[in-house]
Amino acid sequence: KLEKIWLIIGVGTLVVFLTIIGVGAFAHGNEPPSDLTILDPQKVDETPPFNEPGLKKIGENEYELILIAQAFSFFPNDVKIPKGATVHIKVTSKDVVHGLQIVGTNVNMMVTPGHVNSLTYSFKEPGNYLILCNEYCGVGHQAMSTTIEVT
Ligand code: CUA
Repeated sequence: KLEKIWLIIGVGTLVVFLTIIGVGAFAHGNEPPSDLTILDPQKVDETPPFNEPGLKKIGENEYELILIAQAFSFFPNDVKIPKGATVHIKVTSKDVVHGLQIVGTNVNMMVTPGHVNSLTYSFKEPGNYLILCNEYCGVGHQAMSTTIEVT
């Protein structure tokens, strides 16, 4: 009888620990793709909105920023964004898993092939912002970056 109680306590404790570890790993890792739209990584260039990458005005002080990650760069690489504008970032990968981190902001996305990840951000300060890949994606990973200009 007593053994059974200890067994239950043991298993219960294990479940609690595993849950804590699982939740912790999830909370501290990258956000999973927020939009699980499936698209063919081979056909990114012809799939809207990625057939027209770059900044697109969609409303009063509101823009859509379409980005494509590919080993080992981001496209396009000459983006200029008005300060304070609401920017809906949409990104996908043409090959492997990349990361998209904008230094100095809380923008940190996982970029997986076949998925569209999206996030809305507003740049309050003008300047040049560095976009880095923060998921190891191959030999050129360290060099995978670009800048966007906020004016
Ligand atoms: Cu792309 Cu690391």
